[in-house]
Amino acid sequence: MTEIVLPNDANGLGNMMGGRLMYLMDKCAAVSAQRHANSVCVTAAVDSIEFLSPIYQNEVVLIESWVNRAFRTSMEIEMVVMAENPQAQTRRLCNRAFFTFVALGPDGKPHPVPRIHPETDEEHTRHEQAAKRREARLFFSGRLKLEDARHVKDDLLAAIASERNE
Ligand SMILES: CC(C)(COP(=O)(O)OP(=O)(O)OC[C@H]1O[C@@H](n2cnc3c(N)ncnc32)[C@H](O)[C@@H]1OP(=O)(O)O)[C@@H](O)C(=O)NCCC(=O)NCCS
Repeated sequence: MTEIVLPNDANGLGNMMGGRLMYLMDKCAAVSAQRHANSVCVTAAVDSIEFLSPIYQNEVVLIESWVNRAFRTSMEIEMVVMAENPQAQTRRLCNRAFFTFVALGPDGKPHPVPRIHPETDEEHTRHEQAAKRREARLFFSGRLKLEDARHVKDDLLAAIASERNE
Protein backbone atom coordinates (compact mmCIF):
# COMPACT_ATOMS: atom_id res chain seq x y z
CA MET A 1 0.00 0.00 0.00
CA THR A 2 1.33 3.44 -0.91
CA GLU A 3 -0.02 6.67 0.60
CA ILE A 4 1.13 10.26 0.68
CA VAL A 5 0.98 12.06 4.06
CA LEU A 6 -1.34 15.06 3.72
CA PRO A 7 -1.95 17.85 6.29
CA ASN A 8 -5.05 16.08 7.56
CA ASP A 9 -2.93 13.02 8.51
CA ALA A 10 -0.43 15.05 10.56
CA ASN A 11 -0.16 16.80 13.94
CA GLY A 12 0.85 20.45 14.50
CA LEU A 13 4.51 19.61 13.91
CA GLY A 14 3.77 18.02 10.56
CA ASN A 15 4.38 14.47 11.83
CA MET A 16 1.99 11.75 10.78
CA MET A 17 -0.37 10.79 13.62
CA GLY A 18 0.20 7.29 15.00
CA GLY A 19 -3.50 6.46 14.84
CA ARG A 20 -3.63 7.39 11.17
CA LEU A 21 -0.73 5.05 10.44
CA MET A 22 -2.38 2.24 12.44
CA TYR A 23 -5.56 2.74 10.40
CA LEU A 24 -3.59 2.25 7.17
CA MET A 25 -1.76 -0.76 8.63
CA ASP A 26 -5.06 -2.35 9.62
CA LYS A 27 -6.40 -1.85 6.09
CA CYS A 28 -3.27 -3.24 4.48
CA ALA A 29 -3.26 -6.29 6.79
CA ALA A 30 -6.97 -6.85 6.09
CA VAL A 31 -6.23 -7.09 2.37
CA SER A 32 -3.58 -9.79 2.98
CA ALA A 33 -5.90 -11.71 5.32
CA GLN A 34 -8.91 -11.50 3.03
CA ARG A 35 -6.90 -12.52 -0.04
CA HIS A 36 -5.69 -15.60 1.81
CA ALA A 37 -9.00 -16.51 3.46
CA ASN A 38 -11.18 -15.51 0.52
CA SER A 39 -13.70 -14.19 3.03
CA VAL A 40 -14.34 -11.18 5.24
CA CYS A 41 -11.78 -10.98 8.06
CA VAL A 42 -11.75 -8.96 11.28
CA THR A 43 -8.88 -7.73 13.40
CA ALA A 44 -8.73 -9.89 16.53
CA ALA A 45 -5.46 -8.66 18.07
CA VAL A 46 -2.65 -6.21 17.45
CA ASP A 47 0.76 -6.85 19.01
CA SER A 48 2.67 -3.92 20.47
CA ILE A 49 3.62 -1.32 17.87
CA GLU A 50 6.77 0.72 18.23
CA PHE A 51 7.15 3.88 16.14
CA LEU A 52 10.84 3.93 15.31
CA SER A 53 10.95 7.07 13.20
CA PRO A 54 8.54 9.96 12.56
CA ILE A 55 6.92 10.20 9.15
CA TYR A 56 6.55 13.76 7.88
CA GLN A 57 3.96 15.55 5.82
CA ASN A 58 4.50 15.09 2.05
CA GLU A 59 6.45 11.88 2.63
CA VAL A 60 5.18 8.61 1.19
CA VAL A 61 4.21 5.70 3.43
CA LEU A 62 4.84 2.23 2.05
CA ILE A 63 3.24 -0.68 3.88
CA GLU A 64 3.97 -4.26 2.92
CA SER A 65 2.02 -7.07 4.57
CA TRP A 66 1.87 -10.85 4.25
CA VAL A 67 0.44 -13.90 6.03
CA ASN A 68 3.07 -15.62 8.18
CA ARG A 69 0.84 -18.48 9.24
CA ALA A 70 -2.78 -19.56 9.13
CA PHE A 71 -4.11 -21.44 12.16
CA ARG A 72 -7.71 -22.75 12.27
CA THR A 73 -9.73 -19.58 11.69
CA SER A 74 -7.04 -16.99 12.49
CA MET A 75 -3.96 -15.75 10.67
CA GLU A 76 -0.87 -13.86 11.74
CA ILE A 77 -0.16 -10.96 9.39
CA GLU A 78 3.25 -9.32 9.46
CA MET A 79 3.82 -5.80 8.23
CA VAL A 80 6.76 -3.58 7.45
CA VAL A 81 6.25 0.18 7.23
CA MET A 82 8.73 2.37 5.36
CA ALA A 83 8.74 6.13 4.88
CA GLU A 84 9.97 7.51 1.58
CA ASN A 85 11.24 11.02 1.12
CA PRO A 86 10.50 11.74 -2.55
CA GLN A 87 12.91 14.70 -2.77
CA ALA A 88 15.91 12.94 -1.21
CA GLN A 89 14.86 9.61 -2.77
CA THR A 90 15.54 7.81 0.51
CA ARG A 91 13.59 5.21 2.44
CA ARG A 92 13.73 4.34 6.13
CA LEU A 93 12.14 1.67 8.27
CA CYS A 94 9.42 3.08 10.54
CA ASN A 95 7.95 -0.02 12.09
CA ARG A 96 7.25 -3.71 11.91
CA ALA A 97 4.10 -5.19 13.39
CA PHE A 98 2.02 -8.34 13.78
CA PHE A 99 -1.77 -8.33 13.55
CA THR A 100 -4.09 -11.30 14.07
CA PHE A 101 -7.10 -11.53 11.79
CA VAL A 102 -10.00 -13.98 12.02
CA ALA A 103 -11.94 -15.07 8.95
CA LEU A 104 -15.71 -14.95 9.23
CA GLY A 105 -18.20 -17.09 7.33
CA PRO A 106 -21.50 -15.86 5.88
CA ASP A 107 -23.05 -16.41 9.34
CA GLY A 108 -20.56 -13.92 10.82
CA LYS A 109 -18.83 -16.66 12.85
CA PRO A 110 -15.13 -17.68 12.72
CA HIS A 111 -14.57 -19.76 9.61
CA PRO A 112 -11.64 -22.13 8.77
CA VAL A 113 -8.88 -20.75 6.55
CA PRO A 114 -6.51 -22.57 4.17
CA ARG A 115 -3.11 -23.50 5.57
CA ILE A 116 0.11 -21.80 4.54
CA HIS A 117 2.79 -24.07 3.09
CA PRO A 118 6.17 -22.42 3.71
CA GLU A 119 8.83 -23.15 1.10
CA THR A 120 11.91 -21.02 1.68
CA ASP A 121 14.02 -21.00 4.88
CA GLU A 122 12.71 -17.52 5.63
CA GLU A 123 9.10 -18.67 5.25
CA HIS A 124 9.76 -21.67 7.51
CA THR A 125 11.26 -19.38 10.17
CA ARG A 126 8.29 -17.01 9.98
CA HIS A 127 5.90 -19.94 10.18
CA GLU A 128 7.56 -21.36 13.31
CA GLN A 129 7.91 -18.00 15.04
CA ALA A 130 4.27 -17.17 14.33
CA ALA A 131 3.19 -20.18 16.39
CA LYS A 132 5.29 -19.01 19.35
CA ARG A 133 3.89 -15.48 19.14
CA ARG A 134 0.34 -16.85 18.92
CA GLU A 135 0.91 -18.87 22.07
CA ALA A 136 2.11 -15.74 23.92
CA ARG A 137 -0.86 -13.72 22.61
CA LEU A 138 -3.36 -16.32 23.75
CA PHE A 139 -1.65 -16.69 27.12
CA PHE A 140 -1.49 -12.94 27.83
CA SER A 141 -5.12 -12.47 26.73
CA GLY A 142 -6.16 -15.18 29.21
CA ARG A 143 -7.17 -17.64 26.48
CA LEU A 144 -4.42 -20.17 27.26
CA LYS A 145 -3.28 -21.54 30.62
CA LEU A 146 0.40 -21.34 31.52
CA GLU A 147 0.64 -25.15 31.60
CA ASP A 148 -0.44 -25.21 27.93
CA ALA A 149 1.86 -22.34 26.92
CA ARG A 150 5.10 -24.32 26.59
CA HIS A 151 7.15 -21.62 24.88
CA VAL A 152 5.97 -18.86 27.21
CA LYS A 153 6.88 -21.04 30.20
CA ASP A 154 10.31 -21.88 28.77
CA ASP A 155 11.00 -18.20 27.98
CA LEU A 156 9.92 -17.08 31.47
CA LEU A 157 12.08 -19.75 33.14
CA ALA A 158 15.07 -18.81 30.96
CA ALA A 159 14.60 -15.10 31.83
CA ILE A 160 14.42 -15.88 35.57
CA ALA A 161 17.54 -18.10 35.36
CA SER A 162 19.48 -15.43 33.47
CA GLU A 163 18.49 -12.74 36.01
CA ARG A 164 19.64 -14.95 38.89
CA ASN A 165 23.01 -15.46 37.18
CA GLU A 166 23.60 -11.71 36.72
C1 LIG B 1 -12.18 -12.05 16.88
C2 LIG B 1 -13.50 -12.76 17.18
C3 LIG B 1 -14.16 -13.14 15.86
C4 LIG B 1 -13.15 -14.04 17.96
O1 LIG B 1 -14.38 -14.61 18.28
P1 LIG B 1 -14.50 -15.79 19.38
O2 LIG B 1 -15.91 -15.99 19.67
O3 LIG B 1 -13.55 -15.52 20.49
O4 LIG B 1 -14.08 -17.02 18.51
P2 LIG B 1 -13.08 -18.20 18.84
O5 LIG B 1 -12.90 -18.43 20.31
O6 LIG B 1 -13.58 -19.35 17.99
O7 LIG B 1 -11.71 -17.70 18.25
C5 LIG B 1 -11.55 -17.55 16.86
C6 LIG B 1 -10.10 -17.39 16.57
O8 LIG B 1 -9.67 -16.13 17.08
C7 LIG B 1 -8.47 -16.29 17.79
N1 LIG B 1 -8.38 -15.23 18.78
C8 LIG B 1 -9.36 -14.73 19.53
N2 LIG B 1 -8.87 -13.78 20.35
C9 LIG B 1 -7.55 -13.69 20.08
C10 LIG B 1 -6.49 -12.89 20.60
N3 LIG B 1 -6.68 -12.00 21.57
N4 LIG B 1 -5.26 -13.07 20.09
C11 LIG B 1 -5.03 -13.97 19.11
N5 LIG B 1 -6.01 -14.76 18.57
C12 LIG B 1 -7.24 -14.61 19.07
C13 LIG B 1 -8.61 -17.66 18.41
O9 LIG B 1 -7.36 -18.17 18.82
C14 LIG B 1 -9.21 -18.42 17.26
O10 LIG B 1 -8.18 -18.76 16.34
P3 LIG B 1 -8.04 -20.25 15.69
O11 LIG B 1 -9.39 -20.64 15.21
O12 LIG B 1 -7.09 -20.06 14.56
O13 LIG B 1 -7.51 -21.13 16.76
C15 LIG B 1 -14.48 -11.89 18.05
O14 LIG B 1 -13.89 -11.63 19.29
C16 LIG B 1 -14.81 -10.57 17.38
O15 LIG B 1 -15.64 -10.52 16.50
N6 LIG B 1 -14.14 -9.50 17.81
C17 LIG B 1 -14.34 -8.19 17.21
C18 LIG B 1 -13.53 -8.08 15.92
C19 LIG B 1 -13.61 -6.68 15.38
O16 LIG B 1 -14.67 -6.12 15.28
N7 LIG B 1 -12.45 -6.13 15.02
C20 LIG B 1 -12.36 -4.77 14.64
C21 LIG B 1 -12.11 -3.97 15.85
S1 LIG B 1 -12.76 -2.39 15.79
